[in-house]
Amino acid sequence: MNQRRTLIVANWKMHLNTSQASLLVHRLHERIRIHRNIEVVLAPSMLVLQPLSTQIDRRKFRLAAQNAYQKDEGAFTGEVSFTMLQDLVHYALIGHSERRIYFNESLEEIRDKVAAAIRNDITPILCIGETQHEHKAGETKQVLHDQIVTALSNLTAAQVKEVVIAYEPVWAISTFGGTLAKPTEVQHILDFIRHQVSQLYGATAAEAVRVLYGGSVDDQIVRGYLELEGCDGALVGGASLNYQKFAGIIDAAHRLQTETGDDA
Ligand code: 13P
Repeated sequence: MNQRRTLIVANWKMHLNTSQASLLVHRLHERIRIHRNIEVVLAPSMLVLQPLSTQIDRRKFRLAAQNAYQKDEGAFTGEVSFTMLQDLVHYALIGHSERRIYFNESLEEIRDKVAAAIRNDITPILCIGETQHEHKAGETKQVLHDQIVTALSNLTAAQVKEVVIAYEPVWAISTFGGTLAKPTEVQHILDFIRHQVSQLYGATAAEAVRVLYGGSVDDQIVRGYLELEGCDGALVGGASLNYQKFAGIIDAAHRLQTETGDDA
């Protein structure tokens, strides 16, 4: 039986101010139940993390940062470090395609952020994915390989076990075009990702790593991805801003676990 806990992550991106975020959490809290085998993680803007940390029911929600800076402290105007987030979040998104594309985050910078997160006891959710151009050119595996190898290169096999990898093909993200990726196609890539981790860090690490899918996921289609072999959850953008849709995604994950006996 799968020992990896299902992870459903809401990436609110640069949406929702403090009161809007608070209202959404309130609605979600009323709508969703506590699920032992599903972790629900909210990634609000940096500004909203602190107020939400006092509002959330910790049996239902955990928090994630959408980004942070790789140095722990120093003269880096405008940045927030993983060290500063340590008491506030369990997770941090790292290397989201919007950060890679709009903020030119390099493979090495992402590697340093992954190491900084681990050093500060924050679980990295390493986001990887190929652009439409790379996809069409048949470069997907090479791109993902490079992203994985570099990002994990400063970690030990024991540290890699803690990492979450989120596969988000850029062309499937709603704001980049939102072409739905076929589950069969995603299955192929999830297998490839776990195989890469196995080659680099061994079978035990590969078995422990959680791998998520993201890209236009909503309550209607999430099941098709969650039931893929080795898919441990979803990273959700647009649909996570709507409490009915996001709660529907959690319901779908729970239903699937109940059917497969994984909620025992
Ligand atoms: P959408 O769910 O809006 O496609 O966004 C996916 C994403 O980028 C989550 O990190």
